[in-house]
Amino acid sequence: MPTVSPCAMVIFGASGDLAKLKLIPAMYELAIEGLLSENFALVGYARTEMSDDAFRKICSESIAKSARTAKKMGVDEQKLAWLLDRIFYQTGNYDNSADFDKLKERLAAFDVSHKTEGNRLFYLSTPPSAFEPISTCLGEQGLVERVQSGAVRHEGAWQRVIIEKPFGHDLKSALELNQLLTQSFHETQIYRIDHYLGKETVQNLMVMRFANSIFEPIWNYKYIDSVQITVAEAVSADDRAGYYDKSGALRDMVQNHIFQLMALVAMEPPAALDARSIRDEKVKVYKSVRQLRSSRVDEFVVRGQYDAGEVKGKPTPGYLKAKGVEPGSTTETFVALKLYIDSWRWSGTPFYIRTGKCMPAKVSEVIVRFRSPPQTLFQKQCDSPVYPNDLVIKVAPEEGISMHLNGKVPGGTMNIKSVEMNFNYATTFGKEAPEAYERLIFDAISGDQTLFIRGDEAEAAWEVIDVILEGWKQSTRKPELYAPGTWGPKKAMDLIERDGRRWAGLGSDGEPIIACSI
Ligand SMILES: NC(=O)c1ccc[n+]([C@@H]2O[C@H](COP(=O)([O-])OP(=O)(O)OC[C@H]3O[C@@H](n4cnc5c(N)ncnc54)[C@H](OP(=O)(O)O)[C@@H]3O)[C@@H](O)[C@H]2O)c1
Repeated sequence: MPTVSPCAMVIFGASGDLAKLKLIPAMYELAIEGLLSENFALVGYARTEMSDDAFRKICSESIAKSARTAKKMGVDEQKLAWLLDRIFYQTGNYDNSADFDKLKERLAAFDVSHKTEGNRLFYLSTPPSAFEPISTCLGEQGLVERVQSGAVRHEGAWQRVIIEKPFGHDLKSALELNQLLTQSFHETQIYRIDHYLGKETVQNLMVMRFANSIFEPIWNYKYIDSVQITVAEAVSADDRAGYYDKSGALRDMVQNHIFQLMALVAMEPPAALDARSIRDEKVKVYKSVRQLRSSRVDEFVVRGQYDAGEVKGKPTPGYLKAKGVEPGSTTETFVALKLYIDSWRWSGTPFYIRTGKCMPAKVSEVIVRFRSPPQTLFQKQCDSPVYPNDLVIKVAPEEGISMHLNGKVPGGTMNIKSVEMNFNYATTFGKEAPEAYERLIFDAISGDQTLFIRGDEAEAAWEVIDVILEGWKQSTRKPELYAPGTWGPKKAMDLIERDGRRWAGLGSDGEPIIACSI
C-alpha cells in the first residue's frame, strides 16, 4: 500500500456536474481502496448557497448513483461515513478576496483538527472563465505560495492545482492561460488534467511498448503501414450543444484526448519513467507533426456535421436543430484527418484520425496496421485475401489489446481467416479498471505529474490544430453533412481510400470490418 500524504482538498465548482458525476465518486473509491490519508479533509466550494450537511447529502446521493463499486455492490456504509466525516462546504465567489480569506482560515483550522499539515490540493472544476479569478485569488491571498522550483516549499508542505480542460481554445488563448497560471503557480504545481491519460489501457500503451521486446524493433515505418485512431460517440451533441457549438470535434477531442493517444503511440522511448522524460518525448511528437498549409487543409482534413435522420429507428433532428446551436452554425460534429510525423521512426507512415458524434457505436481504439508480407504466397492457393496484421488497442468501452493474425481454416483446402489473439482487462485481471479520475487525483495528491499535461505540451498540440482552424476560416466550404448512425461523410472514406486503405473497426451495422486494404 503506498503511503498517502495528508492533505486538504478544495473543489471549486463543487455544485457542478463533474463534481457529482466523477470527482466525489472517485474520492469514495479512493477511500475504499485505502488511498486517502486518515488526515484528509475535502471542501466543496461554489457560489450556490449550501450547508455542510446539504453538500454531504448530495455527495452520498452521487456516490450511490455514480461510484463504480457502489453501483455493483452497493455502498460501503462504513467507508461512506468515514468520507462524509471529512467533507465540508463553503459558499463563496470565485473573485472575492474576503471569501478566499475565509477559505484560508478554514483550511488552517483543518491543519489542526484533521492534521492536514498545510498540504493543499485545489481542483478547478469550473468553466474556464473562472480559472483567472480563482488562480489570481489563490495566489494573492496566499493559499498557494508559488515555489521557485520543485514542488516542496520551505517547511515541506505542498500546494497543487488541478485544472480541467479545455486549456484554451486556440494557441493564443492557451499561451495566455499558461502565462496567467504561471504568474500564481510554478509549473510543478500545475496539474492539467486529461482524463484519457488516467485510463488503464492508455497507460498500458507504454507498458506494452516498453516492457515487451517484441514490439520496439518493428515499431517504425519499415514495418508499420499506418496507424488509425478512432474515438467515436454514439450520442448526439444535444445534452451540451451550447458548449459544443463553441468548440467542435477538433477542439473537444482531437487537440487533447486523440493527440495524447497519438503521442503515446509515436513517441520515442523516454530516458526514464518520470514526468519530465515522458512529457519531453510527447512534445517532440507534436513538434514533428508535418505542418499543414492552411490553404491545403481540405486535402488532409474532412469536417462533418450530422443531419436529421434516424438512429436505430428513432428520429433524430439534425445538429442545427439542437438547443443552443447558432442558426447556420458551421461547427463540426465529425472530423477526420491524415497526419504525418516527420521523424526517423515514422517517415511516410500516415496517422489517420477520426472522431464524431452520432456514430454507429461508442468506441475508442488505436489500430496499428503492419505491412503485408513481402510475397503474397498464399493468394495463389486460395480465394480468401491475406489480411495485414492489426494490433488493436481498445480504450473504450472494452479495455484491452488484440492482435489480428492470419490463420488457416481447418480442412483439406487452403483457406485463410483473420483471427484475434485477445487480452481483455476485466477477464484477465478479474477486476475492472479504476475510473480515470481515481488514478489522477491520487497521483496529484502523491505529487506525480506524469499523467498530466505540461504547459508546453498543450501549446505544441494547439500549434498543429491552429493551422486547421485557420484553414477552415479561410475556406468557403461548409462541413459535409452525414446521416446520424453512420461513420461520417463520404469524404472521410475518400480521405483514406484514395491511399488504398480503409477504415478498420466496426461497420455501419456495428459488425466488425476485418482490417483489409482495398
Ligand atoms: N462534466 C464533465 O463530464 C466534464 C468532462 C471533462 C471536462 N469537464 C470540464 O470540467 C469543468 C467543470 O465541468 P462541469 O460539467 O461541472 O461544469 P458546470 O456544471 O458548467 O460548472 C461547474 C460549476 O461552476 C460554476 N459555474 C458555472 N458557470 C460559471 C461561470 N460562468 N462562471 C463561474 N462559475 C460558473 C457553477 O457553480 P456555482 O454557480 O454554484 O458557483 C457550476 O455548478 C469544465 O471546465 C468542463 O469543461 C467536464
